[in-house]
Amino acid sequence: MTVTGRSYAILGVLFAALLFAASGFLWFSDRGGATVGGPFTLTDGTGKPVTDRDFRGKYMLVYFGYTHCPDVCPTTLSDIAAALKLMGPKAASLAPVFITVDPARDTPAVIAHYAAQFSPAITGLSGTPAEIEAVAAEYHVYYAKHPKTEAELDYSVDHSSVLYLMGPDGGFVAPIPANSSSKELAAALGRAMR
Ligand code: NI
Repeated sequence: MTVTGRSYAILGVLFAALLFAASGFLWFSDRGGATVGGPFTLTDGTGKPVTDRDFRGKYMLVYFGYTHCPDVCPTTLSDIAAALKLMGPKAASLAPVFITVDPARDTPAVIAHYAAQFSPAITGLSGTPAEIEAVAAEYHVYYAKHPKTEAELDYSVDHSSVLYLMGPDGGFVAPIPANSSSKELAAALGRAMR
C-alpha cells in the first residue's frame, strides 16, 4: 500500500467512525429523554409565573392545544379528566398541564378557566408568543395559524397532538397518543408511573 493509499484508508475508517457516531447520536436524540421538554416560564390563571420546576416531585402530563379547538383538544381533555378518575390514588401524583398554542386569544385566565372545566386537576397555562414558541420548540410541537376568513376574525390553529409524560425529576418518560381512550390512557399512565 502506498502512503497515499494508506492515508485514504485511514480517512475512510475515520469517516465511517464519524458516520457511525453521528447516526448513534441522531438515534439517541430521537429516542433519549434528554431532548423532549425543558425549562419554561409561563403564566397561570391567577397571573402568577409558573415554571417546570414547580412540578418537580410529580409526574407532569403535558399537552398543547387551544380553547377554540373544535374537536381534538376538548376530547383529549375529557379523556384526561376521565383517566384521572380511573387511576384512583395514583392520580394524586400526576399534574396534567394544558399549554396554549394560541396565546393571542387564550390569555392565562381564559385557558385556566377552560382547563378547570374538564378537571380542577388540569393546569391551563399561557404566556407571551415568545414564551409559547420556546416551550413548543422544546416539546417538538408544531403549530400554525390557519385563517378561516381573510380578516382572520376567526381562525383555527393546526397543532400536533401528543401527550408527554414527564417524570418527577422533570425528565421525559414517554409519549402517549392523544387519541387514546380514557381507559387506555389510565392504563398507560399506570404502567409508566412507578
Ligand atoms: Ni386542538
